[in-house]
Amino acid sequence: MPSLRYLGDRRLMQPQEPIPPAEVASAAVQEGLDTLLRAQERYGGIGIAAPQLGWWVRAMHFGTRAPNPRYPKAEKVAPQFWVNPEIVWASDETNWMWEGCLSVPGIRGWVQRPRQVLMRGLDRHGHRVEAELAGLAARVAQHELDHLDGVLFPQRVQSLHFLVPQASMDAQDSWAEDWPSAGSRRTGLGELSDEA
Ligand code: NI
Repeated sequence: MPSLRYLGDRRLMQPQEPIPPAEVASAAVQEGLDTLLRAQERYGGIGIAAPQLGWWVRAMHFGTRAPNPRYPKAEKVAPQFWVNPEIVWASDETNWMWEGCLSVPGIRGWVQRPRQVLMRGLDRHGHRVEAELAGLAARVAQHELDHLDGVLFPQRVQSLHFLVPQASMDAQDSWAEDWPSAGSRRTGLGELSDEA
């Protein structure tokens, strides 16, 4: 099992190269994809991107088969692999979530993103796929796709008030009425909020 790469890792913070479509079915890529899924389960993510394991390509997996202790309030998301994904449309409407990341342990960030996206790419067999994603699926897809461009969630928060340690999340009911914002103090891990 490859070890995780963390915030600051030089190559993690860079855009990655697509996998040539003809190579997706190769044994090497298939093995890489299997390893992604095993690593997501081992490290306890609801998604994972290849560069987090030091595999410098545009591939990712997300989805949940069982409740996740890191996101206790998360809805179910169908497990799916994406190779060379692109977002071809995003809604103007946005929502908010306390994101976390296996590459940024111990920290949560209150991040605003489009509520729905249309994603195109290849599945694990190299077939072209397109999916309209909403809810938690849209959220995780955008977070994982950011990894393929070298972007981690702390680069997406609008203010340092919206980066907190996990220990603060565990004591969320002791936060002040409006801290760090009205929506964020009422939103548990894995939930999406319409309110900032
Ligand atoms: Ni991440």
